[in-house]
Amino acid sequence: MSTKIPFEARYTLPPIEQVLDTREQIREKQDRIRRLKAERNALILAHNYQRDEVQEIGDFVGDSLGLSQTAARAQAQVIVFCGVHFMAETAAILCPGKTVLLPDLNAGCSLAASITVDELRALKARHPDAVVVSYINTSAAIKAESDYCCTSANAKKVIAAIPEDREILFLPDKFLTAVVAHQTKRANIIAYPGYCHVHLAIQPSDVARVMDEHPDVELLLHPECGCVSSCMAKVFDGTLPQERTAFLSTEGMVRHVEASDAKEFAVGTEVGILHRLQRRFPDRTFYPVNPNAVCAFMKTITLDKVIRSLETLTPRVEVPEEIARKARRAIDRMLELV
Ligand code: 13P
Ligand code: SF4
Repeated sequence: MSTKIPFEARYTLPPIEQVLDTREQIREKQDRIRRLKAERNALILAHNYQRDEVQEIGDFVGDSLGLSQTAARAQAQVIVFCGVHFMAETAAILCPGKTVLLPDLNAGCSLAASITVDELRALKARHPDAVVVSYINTSAAIKAESDYCCTSANAKKVIAAIPEDREILFLPDKFLTAVVAHQTKRANIIAYPGYCHVHLAIQPSDVARVMDEHPDVELLLHPECGCVSSCMAKVFDGTLPQERTAFLSTEGMVRHVEASDAKEFAVGTEVGILHRLQRRFPDRTFYPVNPNAVCAFMKTITLDKVIRSLETLTPRVEVPEEIARKARRAIDRMLELV
């Protein structure tokens, strides 16, 4: 009998707090954060899925790769991470000696929770010669057991750096694995069955509806989406136009829009990215593929919690030295490739 714990039982979704501040109150809180930030010599990093008003106070707003690169170069003594726990851990690993704050420790990730160190070790024991490539959405302990780290922006590049004849354990996202295996045409990639519950809910029926309602859009999909295999098959048989369908990281979506002449885009990922896109490209129109794709973990961060974090310099995210040292190898190998 299997003793496996179902993925859904491995995390608790925090409630999504309703923030009822007026625009004036938001502005006051943002000004207060800017003053505290200067006093603390702090840098604020914000992921593209953060609440609109939190994105607006970010010194840098971007995807997991950009956030890691920015953390690695940071001069500030304090980093306030407006994102989720694995992202703050990555910053702590890249910035030893600095104070990394995560304004709410409930900011977890269902995808990162989908694999444990014991599960990875069991998998490695079954494939002792395989190269282990872990998605950045994993705990520091998983990265410490891995040869390479990757993000959705560079997974293809990381795979390309591994000799053709080496078997690859690619984890934990099964949908990203399908996209990467398709793009790299590698048959020796072994998938793990993990997934993000938010992206899983972006289904083929959602794509069909948005394409029906807006037939001229360019379709931008995050490779974690539950619809990726169906969409790749539809691109192959011509049901979806190849030249107007792309699988991209969140920052890849921003760059894609910048380079495109299209006026309308259907965006398949967490809806927080729409604020970034709409602010940056006010003359274009963006439709969410699934408007209910909201990450409760990302939305735990509020302006009030950022203020408290800067005032108290808590909660901090720290990674034990031995795990940090091993995890850093996998992260550095990725950063050297991009
Ligand atoms: P990106 O690296 O594309 O921003 O994705 C992060 C993430 O958590 C996706 O769900
Ligand atoms: Fe994790 Fe999914 Fe939220 Fe991204 S959207 S942080 S993968 S739970």
